[in-house]
This record gives sequence, C-alpha cells and structure tokens, in this order.
Amino acid sequence: MAHVLLGVTGSIAAFKSCHLASDWTKAGHVVRVVETAAAERFVTPLTFTSLTGQPTRTVMFPDSPAVPGDVAANPQAPATINHVKDAAWADVLVVAPASADVIARIAAGMADDTLTSTILAYEGPKLLCPAMNVHMFDNPATQRNLGICRDLGWRVLDPAEGNLACGDTGRGRMPEPEEIERAVAALLGGTDGDGATASQPLKGLHVLVTAGPTQEPLDPVRYLTNHSTGKMGYAVAAAAAALGARVTLVSGPVALDAPEGVDVVRVVTARDMFAAVGEAFADADITVMAAAVGDFRVDEVSAEKIKKAGRESMTLRLVSNPDILAWAGEHKRSDGSQILCGFAMETEHLLANAAGKLASKHCDMLVANNLRDKGAGFATDTNLVAVLTPSEQDAGTPHIEHWDLMDKTALAKRLLLRLAALRG
Ligand code: C5P
Repeated sequence: MAHVLLGVTGSIAAFKSCHLASDWTKAGHVVRVVETAAAERFVTPLTFTSLTGQPTRTVMFPDSPAVPGDVAANPQAPATINHVKDAAWADVLVVAPASADVIARIAAGMADDTLTSTILAYEGPKLLCPAMNVHMFDNPATQRNLGICRDLGWRVLDPAEGNLACGDTGRGRMPEPEEIERAVAALLGGTDGDGATASQPLKGLHVLVTAGPTQEPLDPVRYLTNHSTGKMGYAVAAAAAALGARVTLVSGPVALDAPEGVDVVRVVTARDMFAAVGEAFADADITVMAAAVGDFRVDEVSAEKIKKAGRESMTLRLVSNPDILAWAGEHKRSDGSQILCGFAMETEHLLANAAGKLASKHCDMLVANNLRDKGAGFATDTNLVAVLTPSEQDAGTPHIEHWDLMDKTALAKRLLLRLAALRG
C-alpha cells in the first residue's frame, strides 16, 4: 500500500481528481490531497477528506496538528510543517489537474503556497497531468515550463484532445483517471504490461535479498561474527513479497521467522552466502544486500576444539572473504534492467565511505546508516538512513537524500518502490 500525495489545482478537471482519490483509497492506498486556493473554488476540502479519510491541506500554517494524532503522541510537535512532513511521507506525488500557473511555479522552483512548498520538499517519483485551454497549453511559455519540469524529473502525461470547458477544441483535457492510475502504478514500480496493479506494483519481478550476519568458524565450537539481527533485510524481503514480488532471501544465522511467501536459503559463512547469491543473482530484477557479511575468515579452521592448556596467547591468521556485493556489481546486466542496492554501516565518515562504496561496487543505490545514530543500526526496529544514488551529471558526487527516522518496515517499502522506479 502506497502513500499517494495528490496535488489539485484550479481547473474544472478537478472533479476527476475526486475519482482518483476515491479509486486509490478503495485500492488500499493512503491518499492525502493538497489543494491550491483556486482548486478550492471547484472542489471543497471536505469532499477530499470525506473520500480519503485524511486531512486535506490548503494552507501553509494551519492551527491543527500536522497529522491527526501527532499532538497526542508528542505535544511538543510543531504543527506547521505539513509540507515537509507530507513530502517525506509520500511514496508518489501526482499533480492532477496541473494548471499552467502551477507548472510555471514548479518550473521556477517557487514555494509560495502549500502545494508548491510540498513539491519543493519532495524527492520521490512524480507525475504531472496538465489540464488547460489548448492555446494556454500550446503557448511556448507553457511548453518551455513543461520541458523544465521533465528535466526536473517529472513524468508528464500529455493532455488528451477533445472539447474543452471553454468551448475550444484541441489538446488540453486532463487524461481519464484510469490512464493516470496506470501511470502511477508504473511509477510505483510496475509496468503496464506485466500484470502489475496499484496494490502489487512489484508483481512479475524477482527480488533477491541478503540478510543477517555470517559466522566464520575457528573450530567446531567457536566462530567470528557480528551483531546483525537480520531485521532490516527481513523487512525488505517481507515488503517485497507484500508488494507482489517473487522473493529469494539468503539469510545468515538469525532468530527471525521466515517472512510469509518468501523463499529462504539459509547459510552460515560468507562463502556459503556467495554461493547462494551466485545461484539466484542472474534471474533477479532487484537485489538488496542488507547482510553484514564477515570481511575475513580464519585461514585454517581447526578440525578439533582449540585447547587453551599451555597457551599464553594465540594468533589467528585471517584471510579476506569474497565481496558479494562487488561481485554482483560487476556481473549485473548492462541494459539497466537489473537494479542493485547495497547497505553501508559506518561509525565515522558515513557519507564519504558510502559514496565510495556506491561507485566501487557499481550499485544503483546505497543505503547508509551510522551505528552511532539513535534509532539506527543493529537490533533496532527503526532506522535513520541516507540514500545515495549515482548522479548523471557528476559521477564523483552522488545524489544524497536524508530520510526521516522510520520503522524498518516502512523504510523497506519505500526503498523497494524507489528501486523499482529506477528500473522503470
Ligand atoms: O564494504 P562494506 O562491507 O561496508 O559494504 C557493505 C555492503 O556490501 C552491504 O550491502 C553488504 O551486504 C555487502 N557486502 C557483501 N559481501 C561482503 C562484504 C559486504 O555483499 N563480503
């Protein structure tokens, strides 16, 4: 289930936005509407709130709390940063209908009302559905602004031809809700052709996940390992299955139950994990490596229990394990149809280290978390991450998004929708 943020501007086509809000809500999505002042002249906020069960945003500085329940949960919570909260909350942003005015304001990077402020704070997949008079649409200024919006990462759905409310005939009608819904399902990760639906955007895709620690034996009794509990990787596997994907989870030794509908391959050492990933990788559309793989193993594992008698000290010689993520980066298909995401946990120089890994391991996305951040890291149910993606303009400087502290389940879902969109 996705969080859909629906921006509505002043156009008679706003009545079709009621259908969108209703359809997505019935499909199980959570829909929140942001209206411009002109949109309120066509459809009242009460209509959208009644259809979605969510607050409808109309003003920048409301008296009421940002989200119902916020004040109860945290009386100190500021009530006036809805645009930032909504932008972080949303999985997809749709502006339908988009007037010539809002398109111009988006192109100019303005933030002069609650809708454009939300848009400026938002970093995910976004869809623009222009609706206006044919001459306004054909005007070079509007066409220039739409070109800028495309360059800013907007998917633009061309308006349909037909009779316009003003009496003219031509291009300018907002596409029908079904077409917008298909475009949003595609942005959420599916494609129109593979059976993906709004509620199962990963249907038809194979997701491979690694999770948990590895154990590197010293002797039949002892091993080297780390504090990973597997919670993040298991959350990714469970979310992928819930979003409709076929999922293979390669898991080191953890105390977690297999998520429902997920094919689990249990491994112990890094080399076991490498072999299992090697089997599944070629067929995977999206691979998320969340495992905390042991970088080293003991060179010679003792066949019998190592005895302490007669020893004052002992030296273990360690040798490097294969880097599974780096191997996958080197072997992924070159046509962009295979998406690779790594994780990096650091205790210092987080972003510099993560940027290095993104490039050296040929990842499409790298999720960085600092072990020392409150609410992040091993054994927690939440995570605080920065998400790095390669920049097309400058290969040496990745694009970095800082996500709010969130539940590992919510983070997993958001991550998968982003990865699927990268594939699209
Ligand atoms: O280099 P570092 O271990 O910090 O990289 C972390 C990322 O690389 C994680 O995604 C982890 O799952 C992956 N990794 C791996 N094989 C290794 C070491 C790390 O797949 N041997």
